[in-house]
Amino acid sequence: MKIIEDISEMQRYAAQLRQNGKVVGFVPTMGALHQGHLSLMECARRESDHVVVSLFVNPAQFGPKEDYNKYPRDLKGDIEKVAAIGVDTLFTPTASQIYPEGYRTYIEVEGLSDILCGKIRPGHFRGVATVVLKLFNIVRPHKAFFGQKDFQQTVVIKKMAEDLNTDVTVIVFPTVREPDGLAMSSRNQYLSREERISAAILYRSLLEARLLFEKGEHSEDKLRDAITTTFMSEPSSQLEYVAIVNGNTLQEETDVQKGTVITIAARIGKTRLIDNIIL
Ligand code: PAF
Repeated sequence: MKIIEDISEMQRYAAQLRQNGKVVGFVPTMGALHQGHLSLMECARRESDHVVVSLFVNPAQFGPKEDYNKYPRDLKGDIEKVAAIGVDTLFTPTASQIYPEGYRTYIEVEGLSDILCGKIRPGHFRGVATVVLKLFNIVRPHKAFFGQKDFQQTVVIKKMAEDLNTDVTVIVFPTVREPDGLAMSSRNQYLSREERISAAILYRSLLEARLLFEKGEHSEDKLRDAITTTFMSEPSSQLEYVAIVNGNTLQEETDVQKGTVITIAARIGKTRLIDNIIL
């Protein structure tokens, strides 16, 4: 596996890959890799000739009071994991290369980046869209792979990729879960043993709503109530929001139908977690 840290070197190598007619699959990550990331890489492996994974904890997507400094980092462990999957190239730029002194350009996906999680984490999706576009420009992939767990992120990135004519096909891969249903996330590492058990409430509440929907309940309020009530049974959890939205526009959907997305955010102790299901 080739490891590249320098942006210009990655650009030269990416140009060469394209010239040689390789289909390049790209999996951008912030490291602290878990099975969710590895499944994305396996999918990229199946669907491309050359797989590039980037590992970059992006300061621009963290708020001033958020966990940028304590975000889990394990470069050695991550290198072993990606090598075992058969990734071809690992790109590990530094923050000062991605955002050199005097950096000024940011991407705002209007109407999608300032709602739901974007309302609670102002600037977060601006940071995500900016770094993903920069990485697309550097790696020049044909296809890029993202996990459904970060549903709003996938919608923001798809819109950015389309609006800015990137010519990158954005592929969304289903959420990978622990045996009790908890969506895999690097932030699960923050949970204490008790909190880890409580955290299963997120998926449990979504399943309650899905069950109701499958029994014929199409009222947004009733599905929302089912989630809120389930959360009440878990005192260490605090539901931040439930949104029942259209999967393309993220606009609230009053007539819930197949394909509608229920997305939630909650705190378990101090840890903020998100999850969603597509009905
Ligand atoms: O999902 C993530 O890990 C990050 O938001 C991403 C897409 C790598 C951008 O920093």
